[in-house]
Amino acid sequence: MEIYIDTADLTEIKQAMTLSILDGVTTNPSILLKQGVSYKERLAEINEIVDGKVWYQVVSDNSMEMVKEAQEVAALLSQPVIKLPMGAESLKASKILSDQGIETNMTLVFSVAQAILSAKAGASYVSPYVGRINDIGWSGHQLIKDIAQMYSIQGFQTKVIGASLRGTQDIVSIAELGAKAATMPFKVLMQMLHHPMSDIGLIQFREDWKAYQAQLIENF
Ligand code: E4P
Repeated sequence: MEIYIDTADLTEIKQAMTLSILDGVTTNPSILLKQGVSYKERLAEINEIVDGKVWYQVVSDNSMEMVKEAQEVAALLSQPVIKLPMGAESLKASKILSDQGIETNMTLVFSVAQAILSAKAGASYVSPYVGRINDIGWSGHQLIKDIAQMYSIQGFQTKVIGASLRGTQDIVSIAELGAKAATMPFKVLMQMLHHPMSDIGLIQFREDWKAYQAQLIENF
């Protein structure tokens, strides 16, 4: 399973990279807005830190402008993934970019029907927004399952990346339901790492090891 963090914060990215499990960093306009810096400079900085894929979401309205924007950004990145918001222009852009060997991600996907069209347009990844679907009373987890199952039946190569994930249980569930990737806030990645029982267990083992060494000194 590929793991990404959904942030443009360099401190978070550096810390996440030290875990040696990260496949890259995803961004979107809202994430870049929080940073308040030039997006091209920030993407180049992220690219320097990350040994993996860096994802950028285009903001142009028509397919030809999307392609131009994507190509400009892709030139700055070692392993670019171009995010395209679900829609007719994005389908056209995805086909052109994927034919050029540039990986694309159809984002803002909320139905299996949209996932079929994304795969047909050559998208490398499709992003169902789990949290936002749950927020409106539908099931984001069911959508992940349905898309993963449909891709498997049809033999589509497009990977499902769970997006809008809010907690560790979301990651566990979508992994079990067939998602091949997940992107999550830094906070959620840290939640995946830690468990109070691991911390309690480690303290106990350390104390016992000290006691064992004291015992050795006493006995010999
Ligand atoms: C990822 O690519 C999405 O843009 C992101 O996960 C959306 O998350 P949100 O619903 O928490 O904004």
